[in-house]
Amino acid sequence: MSARNERVVVVGGTSGIGLAAAERQLREGRAVVVTGRGKARLDAAVEKLGEGASGASVDATDEVATAAFFAELGTVDHVVIAVTGNTAAGPFESLSISDLRAAAEGKLIAQTVVAQAALKVLRPGGSITFITAGSAGAARPGTAGLAAVNAAVEAMVPVLAVELAPTRVNAVSPGIIDTPWWDWMDAETRQATFDGYAATAPAGRVGRPEDIGDAIGFLIDSTFTTGLVLPVDGGSRLRPAAL
Ligand SMILES: NC(=O)c1ccc[n+]([C@@H]2O[C@H](COP(=O)([O-])OP(=O)(O)OC[C@H]3O[C@@H](n4cnc5c(N)ncnc54)[C@H](OP(=O)(O)O)[C@@H]3O)[C@@H](O)[C@H]2O)c1
Repeated sequence: MSARNERVVVVGGTSGIGLAAAERQLREGRAVVVTGRGKARLDAAVEKLGEGASGASVDATDEVATAAFFAELGTVDHVVIAVTGNTAAGPFESLSISDLRAAAEGKLIAQTVVAQAALKVLRPGGSITFITAGSAGAARPGTAGLAAVNAAVEAMVPVLAVELAPTRVNAVSPGIIDTPWWDWMDAETRQATFDGYAATAPAGRVGRPEDIGDAIGFLIDSTFTTGLVLPVDGGSRLRPAAL
């Protein structure tokens, strides 16, 4: 099927990685629907994306609203799931259990809710792309909560690729990407974190949203690829955290 007749839904498509994925899909000629919770962010994203884009305000943790959103849309060819929870960062000994619950709710549960609801309208042979995170396998002290939530999403990918075939199911696992996701950190700490990453990653820099948007585009287009968790991290996973 030609991309020109296809429609992609990017859940969490109003900022950062999701927005870059939406831009790339529009360039490919697909119609795009982006979602997010915040109305102002949504309106700004739809305006920026321009022709071929539309949007809806839907909270992905809300099963009923998410099911209603997809049911109203009708047939969809590809779904990208870029929603994120809170950070659940920090040393394990003092890791807040309520933060961990919120992180799981905002990512593992939200991404599952979206994938389940999307299945009802996804055409056979279409695709689902989850966004996980390099923290899942990085063994970096202070990231046990993030690692657990992202690894849980990654564990579903090969299972779903088999269970849901011919729908293709993949994930992109980004390293550090310069997006508003980092706004919870003060500017100085964030810069130090980015500089440290750039100094050890073979690519010598942190990622840009379009680095991940392009990888998502590859997984959407590659009809012989399923069950893959694709690291897009500037090679950071190749260097031990202590270096
Ligand atoms: N940036 C990084 O360094 C990095 C690294 C590894 C993995 N990731 C992962 O990449 C994904 C995208 O992150 P990002 O960096 O692009 O973050 P971002 O710029 O903060 O974008 C997150 C998007 O998700 C939407 N969203 C969040 N919660 C939602 C919910 N419950 N329902 C609907 N929409 C929701 C946001 O809009 P509203 O807030 O308006 O709802 C926004 O559109 C996340 O899963 C994140 O964990 C990011």
